[in-house]
Amino acid sequence: MPGGGVVITGTTDTSRIEAPVTVKAYFICAFAAFGGIFFGYDTGWMGGVLAMPYFIRQYTGLQYPDPNDKAAVTAFHLPASDQSLTTSILSCGTFFGALIAGDLADMIGRRTTIITGCGIFTVGCILEVASTGLGVMVAGRLIAGVGVGFISAIVILYMSEIAPRKVRGAVVAGYQFCITIGILLANCVVYATQKRDDTGSYRIPIAVQFLWAIILAIGLFLLPESPRYFVKKGKLEKAAKALSEVRGQAIDSDYIQDELAEIIANHEYEMQVIPQTSWIGGWTNCFRGSIFKGVSNSRRTTVGILMQMMQQLTGINFIFYFGTVFFTSLGTISNPFLITLITTLVNVCSTPISFWTVERFGRRKILIVGATGMVIMQFIVGIIGVTAGRESKNNHAAVSAMVAFICFNISFFAATWGPCAWVVIGEIFPLPIRSRGVGISTSSNWFWNCIIAVITPYLVGTGPGDANLGAKVFFLWGSLCCLSLAFAYFFVPETKGLSLEQVDKMMEETTARHSAKWVPHSTFAQEMGLTNKGVSISAPTEEIKAAVIQHEMRNDTEKL
Ligand code: BGC
Repeated sequence: MPGGGVVITGTTDTSRIEAPVTVKAYFICAFAAFGGIFFGYDTGWMGGVLAMPYFIRQYTGLQYPDPNDKAAVTAFHLPASDQSLTTSILSCGTFFGALIAGDLADMIGRRTTIITGCGIFTVGCILEVASTGLGVMVAGRLIAGVGVGFISAIVILYMSEIAPRKVRGAVVAGYQFCITIGILLANCVVYATQKRDDTGSYRIPIAVQFLWAIILAIGLFLLPESPRYFVKKGKLEKAAKALSEVRGQAIDSDYIQDELAEIIANHEYEMQVIPQTSWIGGWTNCFRGSIFKGVSNSRRTTVGILMQMMQQLTGINFIFYFGTVFFTSLGTISNPFLITLITTLVNVCSTPISFWTVERFGRRKILIVGATGMVIMQFIVGIIGVTAGRESKNNHAAVSAMVAFICFNISFFAATWGPCAWVVIGEIFPLPIRSRGVGISTSSNWFWNCIIAVITPYLVGTGPGDANLGAKVFFLWGSLCCLSLAFAYFFVPETKGLSLEQVDKMMEETTARHSAKWVPHSTFAQEMGLTNKGVSISAPTEEIKAAVIQHEMRNDTEKL
């Protein structure tokens, strides 16, 4: 349609603001979810590699210990500070990567940002594979981390923007599913190479990641850009084309017209409320308004940050990062690696439950149920741990019960807070601040992820100055889950089944606690005058503004 022969008009029908879901839409989203593999795999391989004998010998210069020499076996490990550095440097990279990507995604587009992330990640991987000393490895981790930060934030943004509203939650939960598969794959590859007495022991698990980067970059190269990004940029012709591609409908069909008109009208509305100024202004916009007003940007950004913080404070990564050490400390378990593998499998198998529950019961309900479940499970683990499960009691049955309740706890997380934290941050921001909002929230995830990774060894450590909490640490996670429960109840709005534009309206008109009852009653296209005055998609901003101004003048005259 060169020359912009298509003139779009909006609809007043709130059920028609989105085209029907096609199989193609599912495929596009399913492919984007693949980005979760990076996240999971990259967090999953490090712990195993740090414990590999060949890796330890190469990096410390220590010789393999005699298995009968207990002191030498105990001393054969990387210094704690090096372990902490190599583990946490990734989170440092991802923290900044997610923030930068939030900015870039508005400048160069969602797709291009993800592809750039794959490129940065590949550079980091090359350094990691090439490294034979700590310096290059740390530099590689930092750079790869920036790439993972790009991907982890913008895949969520991209998926939320292109997914059909009725399945958006399930589709984004697919991203979490890929995270869990990534963690499992990393564990399996590390398990397979850990005994090798050559550089393949750590290079193979690292090099496997090139595959993820190549697949994601090529795939996204072929996928369409987010139509909402084009609307933000005022490129309506491209927006119409991208929308028709993701929905599988003709560009001049009523479906595409109605949906595009709604996105445009919402964006115009938001631009009036949140004027775009400078680059700094763009960032400060994320914190504009009173935090006590449910609809303000500062409130939405705070909810995004807290959502990810609370997800990390459920303590899930205590199990995934320190599970092996913890299970060993219980005394009666002969193969702690196997138990770790089982917990990872429980995580993978429980996540698909959320595909259904997130759309059937909604975000709020499953977050509340998930937090309640985790509180109960973690307190049970703590109680058994300080009574029948104490190491001195050598009670095999009690320890098995603890492992079982830890697995139930993982199931609750995997079916609720795991996916839902990502679903919610993709939905609560209005278009003008969406990519930065998602970037900031994702950074919060990595920040707290890093804090947990750094402090947990001290919480359960038995050395001088360590808290030596043992199983009591589950009382801490259980108590923090009580906070997550309260947070979900008071602050998380119900976004199930709404378009991103309707979410915006809902947050304006009701509170989180009453949001589940809110039903759409008008369209932005109607409010902004795009239903009676068409807009040519080849002459974007001026025509829309003219239509909006005319409509407002008419409204003002009617009021007089
Ligand atoms: C969390 C990660 C966690 C993973 C476990 C993700 O949603 O953000 O920190 O390791 O779930 O499946």
